[in-house]
Amino acid sequence: MVSRVIPVDPFDLVIFGATGDLARRKILPSLYRRFFGGQVPDEARIIGVARTELNDEQFREQVAEALKEFVDESKQSAEQIAAFLRCLHYVTIDATGETGWETLKALVRPDLVQAFYFSVAPELFGALADRLHNYGIAQADARIVVEKPFGRDLVSARALNDTLAAHFTESQIYRIDHYLGKETVQNLMAVRFANILFEPLWNAQYVDHVQITVAETVGVGGRGAYYDTSGAMRDMVQNHLMQLLCLIAMEPPYHFDPSAVRDEKLKVIRALDPLGPEDIVRGQYVGPNGASYRDDAGNPDSRTESYVALRCHVANWRWKGIPFYLRTGKKLRARTSEIAVVFKEPPHSIFDDATDWRENMLVIRLQPNEGMNLKMMIKEPGPGGMRLVQVPLDMSFADALGEEGADMPDAYERLIMDVIRGNQTLFMRGDEVEAAWAWTDPIIAGWEAAKTRPQPYDAGSSGPEDALMLMHRDGRRWREIRE
Ligand SMILES: NC(=O)c1ccc[n+]([C@@H]2O[C@H](COP(=O)([O-])OP(=O)(O)OC[C@H]3O[C@@H](n4cnc5c(N)ncnc54)[C@H](OP(=O)(O)O)[C@@H]3O)[C@@H](O)[C@H]2O)c1
Repeated sequence: MVSRVIPVDPFDLVIFGATGDLARRKILPSLYRRFFGGQVPDEARIIGVARTELNDEQFREQVAEALKEFVDESKQSAEQIAAFLRCLHYVTIDATGETGWETLKALVRPDLVQAFYFSVAPELFGALADRLHNYGIAQADARIVVEKPFGRDLVSARALNDTLAAHFTESQIYRIDHYLGKETVQNLMAVRFANILFEPLWNAQYVDHVQITVAETVGVGGRGAYYDTSGAMRDMVQNHLMQLLCLIAMEPPYHFDPSAVRDEKLKVIRALDPLGPEDIVRGQYVGPNGASYRDDAGNPDSRTESYVALRCHVANWRWKGIPFYLRTGKKLRARTSEIAVVFKEPPHSIFDDATDWRENMLVIRLQPNEGMNLKMMIKEPGPGGMRLVQVPLDMSFADALGEEGADMPDAYERLIMDVIRGNQTLFMRGDEVEAAWAWTDPIIAGWEAAKTRPQPYDAGSSGPEDALMLMHRDGRRWREIRE
């Protein structure tokens, strides 16, 4: 098969926070995998920056260790690793200090694509932006990559946007939501807009409701203290789940182009109705199979949610009256992310015994085993009259696409390559992030003012009882959480 990997232009990528967890686990292994895949040219320079004193060789050794740990064995080629390590450099810099910047400037070539990845705490964004500008390091079209969390409310998100806007234009800023880099998430757009099949049904007339689930089996573990200041709403809903909701609910953009796609997503967020207390369930996991959330968070009085379920409405013509149920939580029964679009009953049943009838449903699995499953009714085979049975039309991308499907680049690989290519479609625009906070802020303020404790749920369960009731009251039920 002819390789469809198109090498990107030679580039210089500076990773601020290169000794940190994200760089070690995700950014550097992703860059190596793209190098191994033939997409990163040998002339590329990847320049690590942090306060720790290291020379190039020591940094390369650290990265070699990270690759051993985080790159699949099938891609561990001594020759390729050695060639990749030759692309690496390191400069010791304190973001808030004034030393090392000239050394960095000498390494970053002005005539190539330049990207600066801020893999550091957001409090350092301002210091970095100022110095990249003041030392004349970043060119006018340099890309700036920033990580979540992008603020913890509208005020702080605006402040971050303003900080970056002081030196960079919106077209230079790449706000990562790694969910958008997942193959299946992009496939949502392909399924909706490259097929005639679903779009005519994709509205309040034919869709009964939509369920979006992002379930994790892990607790808050080592990051308990940080998580306790955030919670599921800030950590997962405001970014990942709302992005998924946007892709499901948005109107067709006029073109698959960054501004067109992001304009449509923004309209969805702006059309979201405010939520009332009856639309929200918050939960906190409790043992006995492990420590409870409050132990993990080191806060016996914590009122932070490790689970949240919401019922939302997109107030526009297409979705009038159709609920979107969102849920996400930690220490749940299985690790799974999926979107289920549940269709309405046919208007009239011609079959006498309609009790076998089950709704048509399109399930898009984001993880594990990325793929799609369309549940349809057919006649149960064999004698016994016309009995109906629901069957899945199941497609796992790995099966359907063979080797290429099994070897899909992970979200970070795709997103970093998009940064180099200058394609912002899969990154959040500043106004999108602000609109998302503008919707979530009053919800969070409401429960902070009410001082209610989230409902306890057993670790390893499907979440709090009240979350089941949230749908039961509407005559619906959640899909089972399972891998
Ligand atoms: N880890 C993840 O899975 C993950 C996921 C999503 C988002 N994020 C976000 O990504 C960013 C980085 O996260 P992380 O987990 O990698 O954090 P981390 O492990 O604490 O690493 C922070 C990095 O920043 C460097 N640093 C700290 N202060 C500095 C300063 N004054 N000047 C220059 N470098 C400085 C540190 O190196 P020195 O101490 O050597 O300076 C280290 O390399 C954070 O904003 C985080 O919220 C992380």
